[in-house]
Amino acid sequence: MINEKETKQLDWENLGFSYIRTDFRFISHYKEGQWEEGTLTTDNKLHISEGSTALHYGQQCFEGMKAYRAKDGSINLFRPYENAQRLNRSCSRLLMPTFPEDKFIEAVKNVVRANEDWIPPYGTNSSLYIRPFMIGVGDNIGVKPADEYIFSVFVMPVGAYFKGGLKPSNFLVSTYDRAAPRGTGAAKVGGNYAASLLPGKEAKDRQFSDAVYLDPATQTKIEEVGAANFFGITHDNEFVTPVSPSILASITKRSLMWLAENRLGLTVREGDVYVDKLDQFKEAGACGTAAVIAPIGGLQVGDDFHVFYSEDEVGPVTVQLYNELVGIQFGDIEAPEGWIEKV
Ligand code: PLP
Ligand code: COI
Repeated sequence: MINEKETKQLDWENLGFSYIRTDFRFISHYKEGQWEEGTLTTDNKLHISEGSTALHYGQQCFEGMKAYRAKDGSINLFRPYENAQRLNRSCSRLLMPTFPEDKFIEAVKNVVRANEDWIPPYGTNSSLYIRPFMIGVGDNIGVKPADEYIFSVFVMPVGAYFKGGLKPSNFLVSTYDRAAPRGTGAAKVGGNYAASLLPGKEAKDRQFSDAVYLDPATQTKIEEVGAANFFGITHDNEFVTPVSPSILASITKRSLMWLAENRLGLTVREGDVYVDKLDQFKEAGACGTAAVIAPIGGLQVGDDFHVFYSEDEVGPVTVQLYNELVGIQFGDIEAPEGWIEKV
């Protein structure tokens, strides 16, 4: 078994966001209407039927969360019950069985503990990314929900998702939609990401960090980034973020809304963000578990390039929000009740 940790010392400060095979993952099978107890395994391969609904009809969903090493050596999870609940909302949308919340938390904690050596040290700004997922499996060919499922959780150490971390980068407003108005945009399902691969590639080929999607019904309002939600700070210090049934309900975004209001004293508003009214914002950013906060320097909208705070400097409100969020996640700043779950 190739174990990178044994063959080389990881450069914890410069990890990026790539697959690293860690030692243990959790796996549980669903058969005859029941989840089995589940177990930790070292095998990172799945042996599934060629007829699995996950392979043909996209019957699968996933979550993204992180474990953080605190200064005192303890391990923090950030609002993990929110991920358990969102996974189950995604499951329900795709007619998959839900996974009990307490079992989800237990599985996540067990995988994190079993891979404890892979958690980046405190002070490196890196963390252990946790990927829970569920797939429809079993012998099938018709377009219908599977009878059998697999739920699994694997982990790997990661650094910044967007190059540079807390450094502004530019994004491209896509002419494609990632989700339909009454489709699966609010669920964390693979099909949304499959739809974002081509627009994402087009953006990256033109040196942008990622695509930004407009509302699929009118293509006039910003919805979200390919792998993160969008927020803007207005000139009169309002934290504004799009509201839409076709974007993913970001746990990071919800947390920033609370912090903006209660720790920074900003007004918070969820509403329409018209792409032709970007002048109202002095700062903008993309936020999510993987992205943390990626400041948006400039946004390409058709032939126009709109610069927010600066293309090379991060705005002060974004810095404050980032410090507050990351400080809480690593345990340096007092967390609101229930936000930190110790492993
Ligand atoms: N939007 C999309 C499309 C995402 O993939 C993610 C990442 O999970 C987010 C938003 C941010 O959600 P969260 O803050 O819960 O990670
Ligand atoms: C996350 O932030 O956890 C995501 O799932 C985004 C991306 C890696 C798909």
